[in-house]
Amino acid sequence: MSGNLKTTLKVYRGAEGEEPHYDQFDVPHEEGASVLDALVWVRENEDASLAFRYACVSANACKECMVLVDGKVNYACTARLSAGAVTVEPLANKTLIRDLVTDIVPPKERLGSAEEN
Ligand code: FES
Repeated sequence: MSGNLKTTLKVYRGAEGEEPHYDQFDVPHEEGASVLDALVWVRENEDASLAFRYACVSANACKECMVLVDGKVNYACTARLSAGAVTVEPLANKTLIRDLVTDIVPPKERLGSAEEN
């Protein structure tokens, strides 16, 4: 435990076609916590509507948690949460679905693509 340390998490919000904005959450800072831990904390304690994706949790296998952490592409499940302030945004080169969720399915793996072939 790191006492009463907090991280101010600044999170991109919005869906395709909406005016985006950022929400800020003060998240308890625990030694060794990940950015994903902080997002889960926000969803459980502050805003259940926050959209983000993950599956394997720290196995670094599913790659579903990829986001921008302070402007750099990173896995939310392995990116360490620093004390102070952290900005989390969706991947910039993917189509935004909502909040931190982007369309990461390769075009050839989409349902319906078999019919097109
Ligand atoms: S949750 Fe699977 S790589 Fe992060």
